[in-house]
Amino acid sequence: MERATKAEILAALSHALDLVEGQPEGHAVRTCLLASRIAEEMALSDQDRDSLYFAALLKDSGCSSNSARIHKIFGGDEMLVKQGVKTVDWSSPLESIKYAIGATERGNGVVSKLRRMLGNLGPPAKVMDEVTLARCTQGAAIARKLRFEEAVAQAVEHLDEHWDGRGSPRHLRGSEIPLLARILGLAQTLEVFFTTFGLTAAMDMLDRREGTWFDPETANAARSLAGDRGFWELLRAHAEESLQHLPIGAASAVADETDIDQICVAFAMIVDAKSSFTAAHSSRVTDVAVELGMLFEFDHERLRTLRRAALLHDIGKLGVPNSILEKPGRLDAGEFDRVQQHPRHSFEILKPIRAFDRVADIAAAHHERLDGSGYWRGLTASELDLDMRILAVADVFDALSAERPYREALPLPEVFAIMDREAGTGLDAACVDALRARKMKGIAMPQAA
Ligand SMILES: [Fe+2]
Ligand SMILES: [Fe+2]
Repeated sequence: MERATKAEILAALSHALDLVEGQPEGHAVRTCLLASRIAEEMALSDQDRDSLYFAALLKDSGCSSNSARIHKIFGGDEMLVKQGVKTVDWSSPLESIKYAIGATERGNGVVSKLRRMLGNLGPPAKVMDEVTLARCTQGAAIARKLRFEEAVAQAVEHLDEHWDGRGSPRHLRGSEIPLLARILGLAQTLEVFFTTFGLTAAMDMLDRREGTWFDPETANAARSLAGDRGFWELLRAHAEESLQHLPIGAASAVADETDIDQICVAFAMIVDAKSSFTAAHSSRVTDVAVELGMLFEFDHERLRTLRRAALLHDIGKLGVPNSILEKPGRLDAGEFDRVQQHPRHSFEILKPIRAFDRVADIAAAHHERLDGSGYWRGLTASELDLDMRILAVADVFDALSAERPYREALPLPEVFAIMDREAGTGLDAACVDALRARKMKGIAMPQAA
């Protein structure tokens, strides 16, 4: 089988980042295509074009790290807040205050709006610095973790700086901002305006923000694309395919097994960063699942696949707003439905990646139960293989045994007492038994009354 490319895997996973940012699907992919085309106009070196390409696909990889903060500041659905952030001019006090008022406690009354704003919100530009710093720093850390060259990390780290020094978070100015970051910042904004309002509005925005947000040279290069109808049509309808076929090294770099493993680890970090309620959940579930796979004598290849599935099993949660993930009370029916759809999102994100065909099947089944009571498909025992059963047990074990912000970790005897009630009906009894034998060595189980 033809080997998967890094570009293909990262482009597919960037759809998960679009979800967190509340952007239309394909935002990162279209930004990448747009940035690549601007770089071509500017006659950048092959090396720079490669770096820019990967930086564009990873540009929002720090986005989950500020979700909880944005939710805390604004209340309501933080994904709607993030969605608007890219169209608002944060360096204009009037525009940003207007936006902040609209975004705070969206859908709730004036009193709760005011209360939250007075309690939480500083000057909007300062808030923007804070949330952008978290996002950019984490995004750059992810790029470094994936062993990309420093230019990729720098482009991600500085993409929200503006030419006039009024961007975020460090207020760099002019050529202090790396060129790749300037191109990327322009490309991401142009993409949002083009997709949301059309080409004319996107070009108007470019004219308005040249010299303030954007450096004139990059804006000129972008403006020269305006008459290329074929390009904009391609961008609108076929960005994904076009991206894979760009005549640059980045588009054809094959991912080796270590690259793929590192991409899985990095995206597990992105998932885990979304909420303190689930911090380190994916990595702990992975440890338990691999432990169980070894107990069942999985070979190297099978363990590797199980590990990748465990790391990415909750990637679909990036599409669930923190207002639901962190809701202290009971979820209403609509909210509950959104939570229950997260394994389906995991499936839809992972399945198109050739190297992840099996990973997607295992990951997407982690909330299924042997008796058909699970979600999202309601599969039953005959459809759930051992790898899927292991992941389901590892997931439940971690949910019960890990410390949560709202409660202490449950003691192991209590964890297994709860899991035993489901063993044989919902959860695989052999997996529960194997895990108990492993974890409970020397710890007495309470006797049933
Ligand atoms: Fe889950
Ligand atoms: Fe999970």
